[in-house]
Amino acid sequence: MKKIILLGYMGCGKSTIAQKLSKATNIPYLDLDKCIEEKANLTINEIFELHGEIYFRKLEHEIFLELLQSSDDTVIGLGGGTPCYANNHEFLKGEGVISVYLKASIDTLYNRLIHNKSKRPLIANMEEQEMREFIAKHLFDRSFYYNHALHKVVVDNKTVEKTVSDILEILA
Ligand code: S3P
Repeated sequence: MKKIILLGYMGCGKSTIAQKLSKATNIPYLDLDKCIEEKANLTINEIFELHGEIYFRKLEHEIFLELLQSSDDTVIGLGGGTPCYANNHEFLKGEGVISVYLKASIDTLYNRLIHNKSKRPLIANMEEQEMREFIAKHLFDRSFYYNHALHKVVVDNKTVEKTVSDILEILA
């Protein structure tokens, strides 16, 4: 079994790149957030609203382990916070796991997230300046966990196709 795991901050492109990578490699793709939503029968926003973040992190951990334990080859797109809770980062170097940190600058993340925050409960209600400062600090705090990935690909100023081809090189 082979698990190709894509991780990185919200807005770094995990889902888009995982889908394209899945097509290019012919390995099925799963999005951890979508798996959580299906299991809970609620959206991520609803889980945060109704049950709180701690409940979400517990569910995220359980479903992440389930995906890792399945016998299928899979491309897995994590949630932005997945590696940062419940010791999930320890699985990024596990047997059969190829983990790739999609590294984006604060500017790249801010410019993408400013138009795409409504489905992300951690930033949904933030004003622009507050969000920029939040991203900067949060990314700094989370980098320790993201850097446990086996590989790192910088995504700034790259097309999705270029990022996918960089990952394919790593996999070759
Ligand atoms: C989160 C990122 C989200 C989702 C949840 C929490 C985070 O996933 O898991 O809103 O803590 O960074 P995306 O990175 O796909 O937006």
